[in-house]
Order: sequence, then structure tokens, then C-alpha cells
Amino acid sequence: MSGTVSTHYDAPDLIARIEAALSDAGLSPETVTADVLAPIEEFHVGGRMATDTLLRDLNIRPADRALDVGCGTGGTSRHAAAQFDCTVEGIDLTDSFIRAGRTLTDWLKLDGKVALHCGSALDMPFETARFDLGWMFHVGMNIEDKQALFNEVFRVLKPGGRFLVYDIMRGEDETTPLTFPVPWAGSQASSFVRPPRQYDEALRSAGFAVTKSEPRRDIADAFFAQAASQASQPRPPLTLALIMGETARDKFANLKRNYEAGRIVPVAISCEKPI
Ligand SMILES: C[S@@+](CC[C@H](N)C(=O)[O-])C[C@H]1O[C@@H](n2cnc3c(N)ncnc32)[C@H](O)[C@@H]1O
Repeated sequence: MSGTVSTHYDAPDLIARIEAALSDAGLSPETVTADVLAPIEEFHVGGRMATDTLLRDLNIRPADRALDVGCGTGGTSRHAAAQFDCTVEGIDLTDSFIRAGRTLTDWLKLDGKVALHCGSALDMPFETARFDLGWMFHVGMNIEDKQALFNEVFRVLKPGGRFLVYDIMRGEDETTPLTFPVPWAGSQASSFVRPPRQYDEALRSAGFAVTKSEPRRDIADAFFAQAASQASQPRPPLTLALIMGETARDKFANLKRNYEAGRIVPVAISCEKPI
């Protein structure tokens, strides 16, 4: 199954495509800024706005060592490191995302603060109790065994470590099949969208204390409204279509359709490893 997931996301020529889009806009890796990269740095509902809103809750300090589970190209890792001056280690299954992410980290001169690793969230190459805190944005939809996932996250966090999950979960309509493709999967075969209670159960059973669990319709509504209003404006040099590939339009339309039908909703869950 992990092969299917990384095949879905695989983007071997991503940096070349980003360089070409930058060049069309009169920019280059030497002149690019975090703001120009921002539209492709967050591959989740709400983009940078969601990242800023959610990370605030983690109370990140400069001395913290943070973990970004399923970091993609590492955009959230870079943004957190730049905002909070913490160090971040990201891990992701998709090798081409990690390779592109290392280049983007170099471009933004954050290589002393951000390290990206290729590997599975179910078996992370980190020692026990390495991290002060962590987050996982829009990854659990690709992972069937959520218990194994949260057991592993629990292992690598220090006692007292905070963890934030922000995933697409089943909405009030839990049974109608989703319309595919969606950004995380081409078909039901690699999609494991579950209701929030299954996350809560798996987190608690791993040992976490769950402190908050809430659907973030506010973030989703603002995100879809912004996307609709931007449709008539000039496109920024970089968009997530660079990462989502040729079917980007269908994936985004189905994401919105499934959300509006109540089949899915983004949910944020805050939890802590007890001391
Ligand atoms: C929708 S993207 C989200 C990326 C990033 N968290 C963000 O919000 O921008 C989902 C990511 O999860 C990764 N992923 C899926 N299953 C994984 C696993 N078992 N271990 C590590 N990464 C995984 C994929 O490779 C992909 O990069």
C-alpha cells in the first residue's frame, strides 16, 4: 500500500517545474522568497492560513525540536522554523517530495533549521523521546492502521510532548462513498478516511491525553470562498497544481463536492503525551 501512496504523489520533475514557473514570472531560485513559494508550501485545506491558525495552538518556542509527520515537500516545516525559530524534522514516504523539499529548504536558507527524511510514519528513523512536539497535516487519510501510526508518534515524543493532528475525516454522512480522485488518492483503494472518534480512540489507546477535537469548517469555508474569489484574478506564479499534476482540477472539485455533501470535514485534534 505504501507503494500506491508514493506513486500517487510522485513528482520526479517537481523542482524543474517550479523553476520553469518561476522563470516565467521573471524569478529564480536566487531571488525567490517564502511568500512567492507559499501557495505550494501547504498541501492541506486552508493552506498557509490553516497552518498559522493551527500551529499557534502548539505554543512553539525557539528551543523546541519539532516533528512534521508526512511533511510532503516540507513547506509547513520551513514555515514553522522561520516563524518560531525552532528546529523541525520532517518525514515523508514520497522520495521525490523529500528531494524537492531539500532543494526548497536550501533556496530559503533554512538548512540549519529543517531536516527532511524519507521514510514511513509507521516506522520512523528517530530515537525514542526525541521531539518536544509535533504535528501531522492531511496524512492519516493515506494510512489504514491509525493505531500503529499513533503508537509510533507517541514513542518519538518526549513526555509532555504536544501533538496536533489536522486531517480530512468523515463528516456527518459517514457512509456515502467519496467521489474520486481527491488530492490524497485516485481511488478508494488508497483512501482511509475515518470519523474523528476513530482517531480519538487510537490516540487514547496509544497513551495520549486528547485535549481538543473539533471540525474546522471555519477554515474549510474560508478556503473554498477564497479559491472561488481567486478564480477570476490573475494566477500567482506558483499553485498547488504543480504538485497535484494533470488531474489537479478534478481533485480540487471533488474535495469541495465531498465537503459540501457532508461526507468529509477537516478536523483538528490536540493531544499530549502525559509526563
Ligand atoms: C496531502 S499530503 C500533505 C503534506 C503536508 N503534510 C502538507 O500538509 O503540506 C500527504 C503526505 O503524506 C505522505 N504520506 C502518506 N502516507 C505516509 C506514511 N505512511 N508515512 C509517511 N508519509 C506518508 C504522502 O507522501 C504525502 O506527502
